[in-house]
Amino acid sequence: MLDLKEYGIDMWSEEKIVAFRKALLDWYDEHKRDLPWRRTSDPYAIWVSEIMLQQTRVDTVIPYYERFLHHLPTIRDLAEAPEEVILKLWEGLGYYSRVRNMQKAAQDMVERFDGSFPKTHAEISSLKGIGPYTAGAISSIAFGLPEPAVDGNVMRVLSRLFEVDYDIGLPANRKIFQAMMDILIDPARPGDFNQALMDLGSDIEAPANPRPEESPVKDFSAAYLNGTMDKYPIKVPKKKPVPVAYQGFLIRNQDNQFLLEKNTDAGLLSGFWSFPLLEKGAIQAKQVSLFEVAEEPEQPDMKLRFTEEYGLTIDWQEQEFEIVQHIFSHRKWQIELIEGVASQSDLPANRELKWVSVEDFHTYPFAKPQQKMWDEFNKNFKK
Ligand code: ADE
Repeated sequence: MLDLKEYGIDMWSEEKIVAFRKALLDWYDEHKRDLPWRRTSDPYAIWVSEIMLQQTRVDTVIPYYERFLHHLPTIRDLAEAPEEVILKLWEGLGYYSRVRNMQKAAQDMVERFDGSFPKTHAEISSLKGIGPYTAGAISSIAFGLPEPAVDGNVMRVLSRLFEVDYDIGLPANRKIFQAMMDILIDPARPGDFNQALMDLGSDIEAPANPRPEESPVKDFSAAYLNGTMDKYPIKVPKKKPVPVAYQGFLIRNQDNQFLLEKNTDAGLLSGFWSFPLLEKGAIQAKQVSLFEVAEEPEQPDMKLRFTEEYGLTIDWQEQEFEIVQHIFSHRKWQIELIEGVASQSDLPANRELKWVSVEDFHTYPFAKPQQKMWDEFNKNFKK
């Protein structure tokens, strides 16, 4: 067991812990948000909600959650669904490895647990894509096991309660908060205890504009009592995403169909369909010197590269577009668009390409950057 004293944390007496649980849960009973995954005890549904909620806000998640369970109501349905169906159901939520991992976990549950959800923390943790936070959330909410679910919200609340001087953005520090929660969690109502902290952390104790006066546990909060709320939590800013330039090609044929390509790379947005994209390279910050005139880096001829790689002869259009931007966690894509009309429709066999009419776009999984490219194209088209 980790010794909290070594980290400068004075854990409360048993009496104070009991009083804290009561204050928090009384508040939760009165103020908890009415959310669809709080009306079920099906671990599969709770799992779906927790995975969706990892990087996405509650309001956004609700319709996705309902639709996902409508189309794939059981573990077996998810295990057997075609890739394009699961990507379509996740379209717009981002971080698509989440749903791919869920499918692998569902297939694993069919194989190892006869299609039902395992009931122990160790077995739940053994599933693909289920880390300590999600394992704790499912164990406590669906199975009533006294397991903490430590996410950013919970770490922020705990940091203020105990004035924790450790960076909550550093994965190595998670164990400190986990150890605190092992002691604090209410063994009688662990799922509600975890969710009460989540609700508190996402509203009254939000990262921006918290309302500490309204907190049901302000009398327990060292930061509140000592006037150090603006110091906690300690969080060192993350590195900025690296900008990368792409050329995006909006190419039509004589039948007014657009050229789409399936991304068969293993990395970002694998499996999605997109207007063809060619990387121009990382964007370098310009070096400014007093004595030298900065040389513009040579621009690659993207039209020529397109013709070479796709074997199509294109009548390029003059229309100018705004740069389309999309920020992923580590990358910032900057996509310059160009429009063209192909004189013939024969496609090379070494890429997964299709001519698709606009009415049929909805049957292809499109990720956010591709949707933004299409919106930018239409914005100009309608002018
Ligand atoms: N965020 C992550 N899990 C949640 C839950 N169960 N309720 C509310 N917000 C959440």
